[in-house]
Amino acid sequence: SGSFEEECDYLFKTVLIGDSAVGKSNLLSRFAKDEFHLDSKPTIGVEFAYRNIKIGDKIAKAQIWDTAGQERFRAITSSYYRGALGALLVYDITRRVTFENIRKWLQELREYGNRDMVIILVGNKSDLADSREVEAEDGQSLAQLEDLCFMETSAKENLNVEDAFLQMITKIF
Ligand code: GTP
Ligand code: MG
Repeated sequence: SGSFEEECDYLFKTVLIGDSAVGKSNLLSRFAKDEFHLDSKPTIGVEFAYRNIKIGDKIAKAQIWDTAGQERFRAITSSYYRGALGALLVYDITRRVTFENIRKWLQELREYGNRDMVIILVGNKSDLADSREVEAEDGQSLAQLEDLCFMETSAKENLNVEDAFLQMITKIF
């Protein structure tokens, strides 16, 4: 029909990874549909969303894989990473353990992922400053050490969500 949605010059895959309940699904629903859900259920296996992005005079369609953080759903991880050009690696600034687990996720990304995948480290839930357990400086230092970009976001308040995805996508192209 020639609608805007159907014309697309590039299709590319990206992934959202990180511990359960850090807010991956809500970051995606905010980016893809401008929606936030306080009572979202844990993702089972993997879900997808798409969003078209204009890059110069071209239209790129981002296929975004939203993976399950819960251990019991994570048997087939290698297929999550296959062919992905970018990843948002997410932790929750109010739960230190989710930040400590970033190293584990990075190892997995580097084992199964494309060598030159663009990885953005994301500290989500920046709206919950009173319960903060991870300083922004800690995220920044880890990102520097591991050669990643870094951003704090709030899916709830819609802070930096668009920026995090667009930074990843811009770096891919
Ligand atoms: P899994 O699918 O199990 O891996 O979890 P997930 O990382 O997809 O987490 P999900 O998006 O389902 O969010 C978990 C909980 O955190 C939900 O109750 C969300 O409402 C809440 N949440 C997500 N993002 C934010 C945020 O930016 N701020 C606040 N305050 N809560 C958030
Ligand atoms: Mg989820």
